Amino acid sequence: MNQNFKLYSQYYDLLYSDKDYPAEVRYIEQLINQYRPESKRILELGSGTGKHANLLAEKNYDILGLERSAEMVAIANKNKLKNVDFKVADITEFQIDQSFDVALSLFHVISYLTDNQSLINTFKNVHHHLNENGLFIFDVWHSTAVNFLVPEQRTKTLQNEVIQITRHANPIINTEQNIVEVNYTIEVKELKDGTTFHIKESHPMRHFSKPEVELLAYATGFEVIHNEEFLGKAIPSAETWGVCYILRKLS
Ligand SMILES: C[S@@+](CC[C@H](N)C(=O)[O-])C[C@H]1O[C@@H](n2cnc3c(N)ncnc32)[C@H](O)[C@@H]1O
Repeated sequence: MNQNFKLYSQYYDLLYSDKDYPAEVRYIEQLINQYRPESKRILELGSGTGKHANLLAEKNYDILGLERSAEMVAIANKNKLKNVDFKVADITEFQIDQSFDVALSLFHVISYLTDNQSLINTFKNVHHHLNENGLFIFDVWHSTAVNFLVPEQRTKTLQNEVIQITRHANPIINTEQNIVEVNYTIEVKELKDGTTFHIKESHPMRHFSKPEVELLAYATGFEVIHNEEFLGKAIPSAETWGVCYILRKLS
């Protein structure tokens, strides 16, 4: 099984402490209310440390989160509310004896599926686990923006009371495969004595065009009912890195 997020997981919440999960959950709730208001049960794919799931549970949805990294699931399970559960599973091959009204996959999880077979397997699995007219909502890297803006080296530093972490991201662009391999080096510094160590992880990310998602949807029993800038709701353009797709299950 792919090992990315194994080491990264313990620093994940600090690295993304600037991410506005409550605003994202309000956005998702609005999409569900617009396209399938009677929805109650949500399946989250790539649920990470459980931030979205717990906030959605507060809004009275029942949620099951599937996540490949056992380390991320352990963190999620420590903080879960009563109508949420998290399980270690690979979204390309899960099989559970439950059905759902909405499948969600947030913060580019689908972009982690870099080969066509993994995408087809995941979409078919989602289709199998959705109720009639169920929604599949996800955000992915947008090809037009990746080609126009071009990923660059970036550095991000964050700190809590115990550690300071500096993450360097070095992207390698594979134009023929629509994949950007993001190589992370994370420097962790203990504030009490300055002890420093490094970890490295590689995250290959695929980006998608609208016709590609439409083809994938068509081949796996869905229709694309809408796409827009994730959170901002603008029409996708060359400046829109993350695009949200809303698919409906066809019977
Ligand atoms: C950027 S994180 C997003 C986590 C969470 N959705 C959030 O918004 O914080 C991507 C997550 O997708 C998970 N993931 C990637 N590929 C997966 C797969 N095939 N099966 C299950 N989880 C996967 C990773 O382990 C990681 O937790």
